[in-house]
Amino acid sequence: MKAVRFHEFGGPEVLKVEEVEDPVGDTLVDVTAIGLNYGETVIRRGKGKELFPWYPGPSLPAILGSEVVGTTRDGRRVMGVPRDGAYATKAVIEHPIELPDDVSDHEALALLLQGTTAVAATKAARIQPGDRVLVEAANGGVGTLLVQLAERQGATVLKASSKGGIGYDWDGLEPVDVVFESIGGQVGRNAFELLKDGVGRMVVFGYASGEPLDVTASDIFRKGVAVMGLPQNTTPEEVLGLNLEPVLGDVYRLDEIASAHKALEARTTRGKLIARP
Ligand SMILES: NC(=O)c1ccc[n+]([C@@H]2O[C@H](COP(=O)([O-])OP(=O)(O)OC[C@H]3O[C@@H](n4cnc5c(N)ncnc54)[C@H](OP(=O)(O)O)[C@@H]3O)[C@@H](O)[C@H]2O)c1
Repeated sequence: MKAVRFHEFGGPEVLKVEEVEDPVGDTLVDVTAIGLNYGETVIRRGKGKELFPWYPGPSLPAILGSEVVGTTRDGRRVMGVPRDGAYATKAVIEHPIELPDDVSDHEALALLLQGTTAVAATKAARIQPGDRVLVEAANGGVGTLLVQLAERQGATVLKASSKGGIGYDWDGLEPVDVVFESIGGQVGRNAFELLKDGVGRMVVFGYASGEPLDVTASDIFRKGVAVMGLPQNTTPEEVLGLNLEPVLGDVYRLDEIASAHKALEARTTRGKLIARP
């Protein structure tokens, strides 16, 4: 099969299309679409160990990626997390999820990892109708879904993005009940200070700036707010049943995945990016 591999950590140029052995396993699929995620750029740069020390890093050479849609040998259309990486023309999926015909490959991939992340984060935030909710990276894959979920629950949503909404200069902004925090560094710190004292909730599920959120127990005590991680209580099947309308971003070829990584790192993307083998 063809796969996009990297032999050393580095910039997008380390990603190369190569001929490799097919993976072997029960649910081998011919891949029809591959989900691309911001976190994969972090691993490719070799920052995974530092930023996500609880994940075992890849042993090189490696195939990146955590989500594919494909066709099984008996003709079923399934999606799932591939055992040996996603950026390839074939993959073994250990827990395949059969897809309904009315969900496209692109929609399905938008609802797999980004969808479960957004739904789990929304559960953690316990949004009440009328809450003011700040979504960072609101044009992104997770961000666009968070906006929809929070609006469905009756929240007033403040969309922070370099591509519109309220941007990241929040001087003079009224405090908020909920922050969905995925950037860290100074942005995360400013968002923490924006939480309403005594009632605010912040869900932390990323640090796209490369700097984890720096908030101490004393800060949390002073403000009387809750800061929480992502609960593991959401399945892709559940997300598929919610009728979300994901924003479908650009589609790349397998040999263009390096360009997709460049765009993710340059913050020029919107919604879910995929590649087609
Ligand atoms: N995809 C998943 O399954 C998953 C799971 C768990 C956690 N996360 C985390 O959730 C966050 C969003 O993930 P996503 O996959 O939906 O990605 P994404 O939002 O589509 O892309 C990342 C966005 O982060 C923002 N950003 C802010 N500072 C940045 C910086 N210094 N460099 C690059 N981007 C920066 C950019 O939006 P603006 O330019 O609009 O600010 C950028 O478009 C990430 O932190 C990711 O690690 C994702």
